[in-house]
Amino acid sequence: MKKYTLPVSRRVQAIAPSATKNMAIEAARIGACVSLGQGVPSFATPPPVVDAMCRVLQKDPSCGKYSLQTGMPALRTRLARLLHEEKNIEADPETEICVTVGGMEALLCTVLTLVDEGDEVILPSPSYASYIEQILLAGGNPVFAPLDKNWGLDLAALEQSITPKTRAIMLCTPGNPTGNALSNEEILALCTLAEQYNLALICDETYDYLVYDNISRISPFSLPRFRERVVLIASLSKKYALTGWRVGWVTASRPLMQEIMKVHDATAICAPTPSQHAALAALEDSSANRQWLAATKAALYKRRDLCCARLERLHDFFSFVPPQGAFYVMARYLFSQEDALSVALRILHEARVITIPTSGFGKGGEGHLRLSFGGEESEINEAFDRMERWLKR
Ligand SMILES: Cc1ncc(COP(=O)(O)O)c(C=O)c1O
Repeated sequence: MKKYTLPVSRRVQAIAPSATKNMAIEAARIGACVSLGQGVPSFATPPPVVDAMCRVLQKDPSCGKYSLQTGMPALRTRLARLLHEEKNIEADPETEICVTVGGMEALLCTVLTLVDEGDEVILPSPSYASYIEQILLAGGNPVFAPLDKNWGLDLAALEQSITPKTRAIMLCTPGNPTGNALSNEEILALCTLAEQYNLALICDETYDYLVYDNISRISPFSLPRFRERVVLIASLSKKYALTGWRVGWVTASRPLMQEIMKVHDATAICAPTPSQHAALAALEDSSANRQWLAATKAALYKRRDLCCARLERLHDFFSFVPPQGAFYVMARYLFSQEDALSVALRILHEARVITIPTSGFGKGGEGHLRLSFGGEESEINEAFDRMERWLKR
């Protein structure tokens, strides 16, 4: 492709589009592919949200206008109640919660607030690829602290990677791409380490609703001793199948939120108001919503079992750690010495299956493909049928 000739900022030159999006673009070009790629649950927008939106669009003339920068008061109040009920968090909806354009904007605003040129941010890795790009965009340096072979925290390695330039630890649990869910002991150890070295802890809880062992996890923001240094990132995208509506939120202590808000104002002004209405409808405490959520979670549990069973059938070709949360599994390929991108591209072109090479997810992801089981069972089966035929050809 022709290179753009006017100067482009060093920050932008330092970053790259994520492998997830690149694989989807390549798949669209070649056509007839099935996907174990992008992290999108297959479900349509929940019917109660669709109904509520039709009413809102017809009856509320303000729904197409900006909301307050921090988001609609009714939504922030609902989020504060949800944080209290689900995570035992006390957060002031007026000053400590801000609705954002998906979890992604919450992450970017946080990183731009905390990271200066040359600062280091530690990523237990492999980690969500966009963290890396966001840190680079802020002029910072991602420092990878590889997880252990079961994708648990290697606390000693993490502590060794702390330097005087370290500003924050950024993590996602349950994890994308590993499917790991940190234990309460690991979460507490991380909080203590952050306190000892005076670091911020950016906790991405996008997949908090999907933990397969059903053991409830501590959210660091719920612990008064640590809350000043914790930023909680949350999203409605995956839990309520609202990926396209672009609505998430950030929770931080008041003084830090005042700083984060400056970035939010400069980038987005506010999250889309119609999407905030959609979020409010999704969060309404109704039996229709409860049933929808229970059914979609049950479907994802089944898809996890299906994906693991299909991988087990291919044990000569892949090894894996069964996921404890989210809808991803890291499949370590045993049939090739090639790098993950080459293997994923071969599977794409020759088997017409989208997988995500995890080489772009930071140290520790080499030799793996991330498989998502957010799709329908029929798509998961078709993808594995194709891979099985290709592997045994
Ligand atoms: C770990 C993690 N955080 C944040 C996001 C962004 O989610 P949103 O759609 O809310 O911007 C994703 C999306 O895949 C994700 O996997």
